[in-house]
Order: sequence, then C-alpha cells, then structure tokens
Amino acid sequence: MPARAGAAVALLLAVCAQAAALPRFAEAPEYRNGEGCPAAAAGVCDAGLVHISMTLDAHYLRGSMAAVYSLLKHASCPESLFFHFLAEEEEEVGGGGGGALRRAVAASFPSLRFEIYAFRAEAVAGLISASVRAALESPLNYARNHLADLLPRCVPRAIYLDSDVLAVDDVRRLWETRLPAAAVVAAPEYCHANFSRYFTPAFWSDPGLGRRVFAGRRRPPCYFNTGVMVIDLRRWRAGNYRHRIERWMEIQKEKRIYELGSLPPFLLVFAGEVEAVDHRWNQHGLGGDNVRGSCRPLHDGPVSLMHWSGKGKPWDRLDAGNPCPLDHTWKSYDLYVAGEGGGAASSPASGPALPSSSTTWPASVFSW
Ligand SMILES: *[C@@H]1O[C@H](CO)[C@@H](O)[C@H](O)[C@H]1NC(C)=O
Repeated sequence: MPARAGAAVALLLAVCAQAAALPRFAEAPEYRNGEGCPAAAAGVCDAGLVHISMTLDAHYLRGSMAAVYSLLKHASCPESLFFHFLAEEEEEVGGGGGGALRRAVAASFPSLRFEIYAFRAEAVAGLISASVRAALESPLNYARNHLADLLPRCVPRAIYLDSDVLAVDDVRRLWETRLPAAAVVAAPEYCHANFSRYFTPAFWSDPGLGRRVFAGRRRPPCYFNTGVMVIDLRRWRAGNYRHRIERWMEIQKEKRIYELGSLPPFLLVFAGEVEAVDHRWNQHGLGGDNVRGSCRPLHDGPVSLMHWSGKGKPWDRLDAGNPCPLDHTWKSYDLYVAGEGGGAASSPASGPALPSSSTTWPASVFSW
C-alpha cells in the first residue's frame, strides 16, 4: 500500500529529524562515592539522597549537560545525587521526542540516577503574560512552580537549578541548608538591589497592592534569584504555594504589575520570607548585560556556583568565537561534540528582539 508506505517513510523521516535535532555529547568521566557517603541507595525514596531538579529541553541541553557534569565532579558523594528533570510533554514523553532527551542524558552519564517528568505546557499556557524577553515566556520557565506536584511525595526537599549554572563546590553543602519552620524556600537574597524595579508603577500605586503585599513578612522584602532555590516540598504542598503563585499570574493578566516572566510571582509570594543562603551559591549575572551582551565579572566573595543568568550564554559566545573570560571555565565542563551529525548546539544566538519599552529598564534588572 503506497499510502501507508509513504506514511511510514514520513514517520521515519520525522523520527530522524528529531534525532538529528539533538546535539551529540561525549560520555562524562565516571565518579564514585568517597568514604563516609550514605550506602548506595536503591530507589528515589531512600534517605541520604540529594535531590536536584532542573528543566530539560533541546534548546538548553548543552547547558544542562555541563551543569550535571559539574555537580557530579564536585560532589563528595556523586552517586547520592538524584536528578529530577522536567521536560515538556510533547518534546520528550509523548509524541515527537520519543525519549531522545532520556537517551542523551543516559549516554553521557551511564550511572546517573535520574527521572524525567512530563510537564504539560497547557498547565501554564493560559497564565503566561507577555514579558520583555520572549525567552522568559517559555512554559518550561514555569515548571519550577510544579515541582511539588511532579516529584514523588517521598522527596522531602529539592534544589532547583537553572540550566545555565556550574557548580564548583559540593552541592551537599547547599542541600544541608537549615530551613527554619517558617521558611519554604531558601535562596541567596540581594537586599541592595532596588526591589521597586521588579514591579510596575501601577503595582506600587494600587491601594490594594504595593507595600501592603509585603506587610507582616518575616523580614523586609528583598530580591532573590529563582535560578537557585532550596525548596521544602512538604511545606510547599501543605501551603499550596503553586496556587498562590498562580493567583499573582492571574492578577498580572488584568493589571500588568510586572514586566519580567516567572520571577516576579515568586517575589510576590516569597520575598521577605525566604531563608537567606550564602551568596556564594548564586554568583549570577555572568550571561552579561541584557541589552548589549557585555561580559560580567564575578561578584566579590567566594564562589560555589556560577550562574550565566542574563541574555548571553557561554556556549553561544564560545561558538561565535567571542567568549567572555569566565566562559572558559564553563568550557571545561562542556560535553558537546561538534560536527558529525551533531546539529547546531543551540538555536541562533541572536535571541528575541526586545520591545522598545525594555529600554527604560536598567540592564541590572535582568541579570540580577
Ligand atoms: C528604585 O527604583 C524606583 C523605580 O525605578 C525609583 O523610583 C527609586 O528612586 C529607586 N530607589 C533607589 C534607592 O535607587
């Protein structure tokens, strides 16, 4: 039957196209638990595991691979790390992807303990408002709101990490952050950043919003970056925090109270309530200036985790032959194998055009 054969060929081509769309990665060196590590655990519910959650998609896969490699390399007990990856359902779990991301991760890290969870973009589609940077509107940016719903109930806490980070220290130190009973989230706070700038004048002048929102918090509200967070999943579930965040996303659709993407609702719910973590765990802004793409140095103080937040990504700058000094550090964790059917490592570096309103926003707002 020609029609059916044609369909089969088309399907085969589609599958090949999908496979070709993922870049190729080398296998990472194997890492073993050192002395004094918890006994090798059998399942995700075992005590002694350090749970790390990241999103996984074709676009940022090169970043995710480097991040995982860096976490393993610097962990005193690498076999005790369990990775919980959130991937868009259409890309990985259903339809098109057919498990390509899973195969890519398993090929580079054969003994990695991980699970991939399907995140349904429809779960947030109706809640996303346009922001200043199209990349901030990707549904996967909102997957962190769903961590507590997607991960197994037995997982008591998780470290959420963006895909553009590198650990240069044992992540167990971050994992062991003490969370006092009142705190659901721990993260480095930046109290010298101008908090007002993360919300619109309409927010601050609204009699029902503005300062009132943060009255009665444990501490004055400060900016924190949602790319590195320790989350108590039990408290999150008990307090139905996804719902609290989504209520702000609903308000945003009506009133335009902020300009950025998934970050401001987190600030609205948690600013002044987060448990402060040492700044060494989120040396952010290394992506550089959002508008000009210039390089940023590390902030003063020790470094345990580097974060290329901001518009520029190290893999794009390296490929363009125009790296920032710190991008060379990232390169030493890059598992990407160039050429040989390996497709482009990432989509064009050009990035979405900025709407003109963004020019009124200081660059520091984006990369902090
Ligand atoms: C903080 O930002 C707001 C809004 O852009 C501005 O009005 C205010 O003067 C700034 N405060 C400081 C201390 O820079």
